Amino acid sequence: MALICSSLLLSAAPIPSSKCHLCTTSSHLITSAVAVLLAGGFVMVPPVADAEEDDHPIRPKFVELEDSGGVKVLDIREGGGTTYPKPGDRVEIHYYARLAAKQGWRFDATYDHKDASGNPEPYVFTIASGTVIAGLDAAVRSMREGGVRRVVIPPSQAYQNTTQGPIPPNFFDRQRLYTTVFNQTRLANGEGSTLGTVIFDVELLKIRPQ
Ligand SMILES: *[C@@H]1O[C@H](CO)[C@@H](O)[C@H](O)[C@H]1NC(C)=O
Ligand SMILES: *[C@@H]1O[C@H](CO)[C@@H](O)[C@H](O)[C@H]1NC(C)=O
Repeated sequence: MALICSSLLLSAAPIPSSKCHLCTTSSHLITSAVAVLLAGGFVMVPPVADAEEDDHPIRPKFVELEDSGGVKVLDIREGGGTTYPKPGDRVEIHYYARLAAKQGWRFDATYDHKDASGNPEPYVFTIASGTVIAGLDAAVRSMREGGVRRVVIPPSQAYQNTTQGPIPPNFFDRQRLYTTVFNQTRLANGEGSTLGTVIFDVELLKIRPQ
């Protein structure tokens, strides 16, 4: 109520008190509310120069990986490990996998893959083996154990056919993923550049050197 009324009170034109029927009848209380809002405003609104600075520390940026065909990454947590995975190494990851299309529909997550004792089962693959989509392979190569990063993978580096992983184990999710990404009608409509874009939130758990 105070917010609605104070915006009326702060506008240039005088507001007939009858229009401010949401306000309390006490003008003293209204004035106090405005004062509080104004004081709050000074505290909360950052100086303009700060807001326009490109390298503002609280506004992290996606970085495009070199020679990756357009894979973009945003590090959410830097890993504490000392090495990066090399071709031939096996890696264990957890991931949330989403489509950029379909309102960011989540088509798979290792946190839902439970082993016999009910613990989430990591996904394991070999770096540079071609068994996973190229964008995921590229992103994990520059991660260290313990790292978490969001990876945005353009269609050319994502699902090209149904042979590369990660393949959602759930039949319906798998079906929907493939019919979306490989929808001939939509590809013919020129939607191919956006349709197959995938977003992975990846946690690198372990590197097992070959
Ligand atoms: C699937 O796509 C990958 C990446 O483009 C390619 O290396 C592989 O040969 C393809 N497999 C088939 C069966 O088309
Ligand atoms: C392919 O896309 C078209 C157009 O959006 C849609 O009508 C059709 O149902 C889709 N096909 C499949 C198999 O999802």
